[in-house]
Formats: sequence, C-alpha cells, structure tokens
Amino acid sequence: METTRQRIIFVDDEPMVLSGLKRMLRGNRNEWDMDFVDCGGRALEMMEEKPFDVVVADMRMPGMNGAELLKVVMKEHPNTVRLILSGYADQDLVMQSVGSTHQYLAKPCEPSNLKSTIDRAFSLKASLGDSNVFDIVSQMEVVPSLPCLYLQVVEKLRDPETDISEVSEIIRQDIGMTANILKLVNSAFFGSGRKIADVDEAVTQLGMQLLKDLILVAEFFSQYEDDPLVAKAADSLWLHSQEVAGIAKLILESEGASVADKEAVLVAAMLHDLGKLILTVNFPDEYGQLLVRCAEKGESLIRMEKTQFGATHAEVGSYLLGLWGLDEKIVDTIALHHKPDQSVNADFGVLTAIHAANAMANARSKSPDWCGSRKLSKAYLELLGLVERVAVWAKF
Ligand SMILES: [Fe+2]
Ligand SMILES: [Fe+2]
Repeated sequence: METTRQRIIFVDDEPMVLSGLKRMLRGNRNEWDMDFVDCGGRALEMMEEKPFDVVVADMRMPGMNGAELLKVVMKEHPNTVRLILSGYADQDLVMQSVGSTHQYLAKPCEPSNLKSTIDRAFSLKASLGDSNVFDIVSQMEVVPSLPCLYLQVVEKLRDPETDISEVSEIIRQDIGMTANILKLVNSAFFGSGRKIADVDEAVTQLGMQLLKDLILVAEFFSQYEDDPLVAKAADSLWLHSQEVAGIAKLILESEGASVADKEAVLVAAMLHDLGKLILTVNFPDEYGQLLVRCAEKGESLIRMEKTQFGATHAEVGSYLLGLWGLDEKIVDTIALHHKPDQSVNADFGVLTAIHAANAMANARSKSPDWCGSRKLSKAYLELLGLVERVAVWAKF
C-alpha cells in the first residue's frame, strides 16, 4: 500500500539553521516532503499554493515572528499542525504563541524528536476533535507557564552526569514544592507504611522520570497559593485527584497492568482535572457560577462547559499539558477521561482506569458543591469487554 508522505514546511530566518535542518533531515526524505523558507510571508504564500500537513516555525524572526505566523495559519489553514521551534531562552515569547500552537519543539531539532513531536501533535489534534480550545485559551490572561523548577530539572536530567543530590537541591529551593512532593510520596498511592520525611529519600524512591512529572504536578498545585478562591479550588482538586489516583491504581493492579502504567496513572490522575483550575483562574465568576449551577441542578458539567466556553476542562487541560510536552499517553488520557469511547486505542490501560476511578470518586463525594461526572461510558467498557469488572472495581 502506498502511503502519502507528510508535507512539512520549515520557517526560519537564519540560513544556517535552515541548511542545518535540511542536512539533518535528509535521511527522512522518504517519509516527509519538506520545504524550507526564510520568512513567514513566504510560508503563507506557499501554503496558499499547496496544502501542508505540518508547519514548523522558528519563534524569533524579524517582521512576522513564529507566534504571529501560527495565528494566521490557524485561521487560514486550520487543518495544518502547528509547531514552534524554540530555544530555552524564548520562554517569554512562547507564551504569546499559546492558543495557536499545537506543540513546541526544543532546539536543536533532532529528527527523532521532530518525528515524535509531530506524532504527538497529530494525536492531540485528534483527541481535541472539533473543540474550540484554541479560542478559549487565546482569551486567557493567566495561562500558567511551564513551571520554572520543572524546566530546571528537565535541563538537569538531559545531562547523564547529573547526580540525584543535584535534583534534590533544586527541589529544596522551594518550600511549597518540597511539601507537595513529600505529600505525594507519602500518599496512600505508594502504600508504604514508613513516612518519608526527606527530599533525598523521596527522590531515590520515585526515580528520575516519575519525579520529573511529579514536580510538574506539585508546581501546578502550588502556583495558586496566593489567591484564596483558587487555593480553595486547588485544595479540593488535590484531594479528588489523589482519590482518583488511589482507585485507578487498584483498578490497574486488579487487571495486571505494567509498572509503567502504574506510574503514568498517578501523574494522569493528579492532572486529569487541571483544566478546571485553569478555567477557575481565568474566568472566576463565570466558571464559579457554572459549577454552582451544575452542582445544584445535577446537569452535565461537560455539556455546560461546552455550551458556555466552547471547550471542556478536559480539553483545556490536555491542550496545555500537550503543549508543554507531557507524555502522549497522559495527555490523551486527560483529553478523553470523560469520553474514552472516542479513543483510537481500545485496550485496557491508564485511560480506562482514570475514567472509571474518576466516575467512582465523583459518585462517592459527599460534598454538596462538588460537581463531576459519575457516568461510566458503557459503550467503551463494552468495547473492551470489561462491563462485568465494574462491580469489582467499585469496591476499591
Ligand atoms: Fe474531569
Ligand atoms: Fe475528576
């Protein structure tokens, strides 16, 4: 069967960078049909002439910068996947492109990294479907930036020489972060009877990969400490997310899941409703009223979010986490935790566990103002042949 090659256009004002990209990606000519141009205007002209599947734009360019170019591309060619190629120093500009970018690509752009980023962007695009998430995110004034300590740890971990004590040192710089990491490592999720009171021990226990993701979790939750309204929402979300993590882990164990899935499920559970927090921060009155109406009338939160904001908390959260480069499995799980039947993957896994655990935790909530879906997707569970397992899971 002949497969069509993906068409990619690279935009960078520096000739050296373009020729470097050309050289580096030469080996990928069989799978990608690539064009290289030196400015946004030229890229738009070419995109008028023929459709492209992917555009990869440099952030800093004279005239039209990457963020501006992608805004136009989003409007004129909404089906094109939009990537920003950015350096570590571009964080301030990167924020301008939130809402029009599918994914960031760190410089230097290695072929394998480009390939996985493109795959991730296509998968995110598919799970967001016809959502208006880009519109709503563009209207936000407070888009949480990729947490700074997380970035420091990611940088450190790129260096194979990095020692665990250096990572502990970064964590210790922040008291709120230290407290949250210790809370997570001592939570029922890990089930160890012994209390871990020290960051070094927490780091050793978690391992680098999980630690990195949990730093992201911990940092998100501690970003909102100064605003009492949001801090209250963050607290109750933390408790709910931990409950979901605990149930989801037992569900995975009961079905014999892998260690990797059990680690991913903790991160996915802690972040699955992050979109609620982001909506609360940006639209405190509207989203607050929506939550009250939802709790009082028992209406579907997802439906109400879609009507009022054009996108759900699941879509907002997964879009931003995808943008920050979180693992594809976690991002997809977050996007689909209320509609798992739309997943392209019909195997039991992290998504199944989060979907079921979330519905179960919501059903058990005694708080009158908590609103979350209790509905299990029958179609999805039937597809997986797991309808009968629900009674077992419900005991966890
Ligand atoms: Fe949710
Ligand atoms: Fe939830």
